[in-house]
Amino acid sequence: MNITVFGTGYVGLVTGASLADVGHNVLCMDVDVAKIESLKKGIVTIHEPGLDVVVQRCFEDGTLNFSSSTEEAVAHGELIFIAVGTPPDEDGSADLQYVLQVAANIGRNMQDYKVIVNKSTVPVGTADKVKAAVAAELEARSSPLEFDVCSNPEFLKEGSALEDFNKGARIVVGTDSDRVVNIMRVCYGPYIRNHDKLMFMDVRAAELTKYAANAMLATKISFMNEMSQLAERLGVDIEQVRKGIGSDPRIGYQFIYPGCGYGGSCFPKDVKALAQTARTVGYVPELLDAVENVNTRQKGSMFEKLSKHFNGDLNGKTIALWGLSFKPDTDDMREAPSRDLMEALWAAGAKIQAFDPVASKECRRIYGDRPDLVLCEQRNDAVSGADALAICTEWKAFRFVDLKWLKSELKNPVIVDGRNLYSPADTKEFGFKYYAIGRSD
Ligand code: UGA
Repeated sequence: MNITVFGTGYVGLVTGASLADVGHNVLCMDVDVAKIESLKKGIVTIHEPGLDVVVQRCFEDGTLNFSSSTEEAVAHGELIFIAVGTPPDEDGSADLQYVLQVAANIGRNMQDYKVIVNKSTVPVGTADKVKAAVAAELEARSSPLEFDVCSNPEFLKEGSALEDFNKGARIVVGTDSDRVVNIMRVCYGPYIRNHDKLMFMDVRAAELTKYAANAMLATKISFMNEMSQLAERLGVDIEQVRKGIGSDPRIGYQFIYPGCGYGGSCFPKDVKALAQTARTVGYVPELLDAVENVNTRQKGSMFEKLSKHFNGDLNGKTIALWGLSFKPDTDDMREAPSRDLMEALWAAGAKIQAFDPVASKECRRIYGDRPDLVLCEQRNDAVSGADALAICTEWKAFRFVDLKWLKSELKNPVIVDGRNLYSPADTKEFGFKYYAIGRSD
């Protein structure tokens, strides 16, 4: 089927490439002409495992094409996905201007029936706004053309997006139209042959499902982070508690890893936006606010540990930092805990020697050239001569370390581990002061 995807960011490109990979005829549109030109050359600038291979293969096969022409994009798809950004406003609510611009462009250019699909994470009620924006343009043209708007939120995780798209737990579609149900069944047909995981529901329920899912996962993390703070103070090892509670299937092992706080483009933004939505309907979101506050405090805990170790004097110290991205397998540093740590260290007069397998370029783009930031090519270079090692991301490359070697490289045997990678007993044996999350050494 002919499908158009507006927006070649993370969600748009994964959606477009995945649907092309199962044989649909997909056109991905972006207003960024340079991006479209490089995609046509097979260059994918997002770091997502396997995405470049699928994009290149589908482009060569002819199932995936790229365009920066709105007219061409609207004409192409019977099904049009809107997957453009919804950056947070100053008050944390989602800014819908790009979504509504696309909606208006569709209304201005469409010549036949369209199903317009909201794929971006958008607040409850956005489908109605998209509908109104399209209708206003059609009315201005005195056009009687029909269209439907539905909500089809995505549940991809960065780093495993293709796998999640292909094998996700469910495909949620919010619609009140049988015509849309039939079209979405064709679109997702290749994914539901063995197991029908398409879930149809009300439009607003689908919109809220997306936020509720992310808010629930963020709640699990903040809950565990709060437990880790208690564990530290009570002399308990949170890792034992994690195993103890995760074994209960009602709780489960997933998303209960304590750490230096959740980051990324989704959880922080979505928890804030949902809390903002709650306020607009006259409800004070106590739990969502707490989830956010616990996370902010947790992000500060790495610095607190370092500062406490050095008796509040980090001025002139060099801190080695392993891991810049908000999680492994991505170069995304949006809301990454490493940023809170770096900014606090700089404010305290410390210098950073950082290593990340892929995010150094992104770090340079964000912070520019500065004398108190050295970006190293190798993880080993980052620790050389440093006063302490801090770990913010659980990249595979950090999972094993020769502690004897590490001790010989560092000026002081100090590790502040935001991802609980090492054994407190081993680090103690080698004479380290090891500060992990929710574990006392
Ligand atoms: C998240 C959701 O997991 C996806 O289902 C959703 O589609 C996506 O947001 C979105 O809304 O687009 P993502 O932000 O890519 O995906 O990353 P996650 O793997 O969920 O990790 C988010 C943060 O939580 C990371 O900083 C990670 O380190 C942290 N985390 C995760 C923990 O601290 N502990 C855990 O147990 C799990």
